[in-house]
Amino acid sequence: MEKLNIAGGEPLRGSVHISGAKNSAVALIPATILADSTVTIEGLPKISDIFILRDLLREIGGNVHLEKGEMVVDPTPMISMPLPNGKVKKLRASYYLMGAMLGRFKKAVIGLPGGCHLGPRPIDQHIKGFEALGAEVTNEQGAIYLRAEKLVGARIYLDVVSVGATINIMLAAVMAEGKTIIENAAKEPEIIDVATLLANMGAKIKGAGTDVIRIEGVKSLHGCRHAIIPDRIEAGTFMIAGAAMGKEVLIDNVIPTHLESLIAKIREMGIRIETSNDQVLVIGGQKEIKPVDIKTLVYPGFPTDLQQPMTALLTKARGTSVVTDTVYSARFKHVDELRRMGSDIKVEGRSAIITGTKSLQSAKVKASDLRAGACLVVAGLIADGVTEITGLEHIDRGYSNLEEKLTRLGAAVWREKLSQEEIEQLQNS
Ligand code: EPU
Repeated sequence: MEKLNIAGGEPLRGSVHISGAKNSAVALIPATILADSTVTIEGLPKISDIFILRDLLREIGGNVHLEKGEMVVDPTPMISMPLPNGKVKKLRASYYLMGAMLGRFKKAVIGLPGGCHLGPRPIDQHIKGFEALGAEVTNEQGAIYLRAEKLVGARIYLDVVSVGATINIMLAAVMAEGKTIIENAAKEPEIIDVATLLANMGAKIKGAGTDVIRIEGVKSLHGCRHAIIPDRIEAGTFMIAGAAMGKEVLIDNVIPTHLESLIAKIREMGIRIETSNDQVLVIGGQKEIKPVDIKTLVYPGFPTDLQQPMTALLTKARGTSVVTDTVYSARFKHVDELRRMGSDIKVEGRSAIITGTKSLQSAKVKASDLRAGACLVVAGLIADGVTEITGLEHIDRGYSNLEEKLTRLGAAVWREKLSQEEIEQLQNS
């Protein structure tokens, strides 16, 4: 077990190269199951979710080679192996194996997914979609069983705008007979990325990125090569770190239009931001940051995944800010840890009310989930003294080479093994 130490107060300067998008990658990899020849995905981030998915594809018989961010998948030997337990429980996105395996084999058994605890995270809309396509879906002892004689296209209206349900239904529908229409679909860039891969594999799919996606089923899909989009949440996290501690931080390999809501909010705080084709320059170092109110929404609204790191930045603002999360009901576990660091934050229902303080103090804190970890990293960069962050398994699920990237920007950050005493303290906490 390790901890991440951050000696706060160091100004950040220089450039950071953003990795491929985690939330695309975790869908692109299962999508390869649908092909009848080799699929290559380039630009994958070096994060634990990717290694788990590689292992899961191998478990079902795929030949998978992963090196330097390039994954080559030969899906031809795969079989519809039941995966009720084990690695599937380690990540939320294992639910994409349901859509992909159902699409290819017309049957699948997948354990209910794990991932960050952010309040209830049902998958009823995924199931509604699979059933509409003709699958019988049952939940037996914590695993979802899916079976279909055949899949037939359908018109599916999502009652909740869901990234996962939209992608999962796309995966199941691309080889169904006839037409599928997904209405009230999510519009996140990751959905367009997955649709692009599927189209390159030969799928007939239109409208990804709008709220109506139309799919005309095809008989088979073939291999191809696909380059993943940059991770807008990683980019956003570095923009927030730059806004907090940056002199000039250049975020490279980013699509600025994916982050318009964040850019607008950072500008509203009085921080300069310049954008070009694939770069964003954050010019921090202002004496005073203005408070702002934030409401998370589905894309293109403010992303819930940046709400937590943004809260750390708002502790520096002069005045009171309100952050409301309309996507998840309980994504505020980071607040207790920020309070340990001297912040003044109250949580009321789905909102955090943050009153800026002169400074944050270092503390021993624990990441409860991935973006809570990102929040504590930003707080550690701001705080006086050495902040020690545990719960790194969460951070490692989503941030590729985090220490290297921060160190290159001038932060004082290093990993250290936990002592036996610290491990015992953590286990008892
Ligand atoms: N929801 C339902 N029923 C469903 C599906 C979703 O009620 O069948 C609800 C959820 O409970 C939630 C809301 O709808 O309140 C949105 O959930 P969505 O399905 O869009 O989320 P997801 O697909 O499970 C992805 C990302 C999350 C990100 C959300 C929202 C992946 C693997 N995960 O989750 O990323 O927060 O979209 O943008 O793509 C993260 O990266 O830290 C992360 C949690």
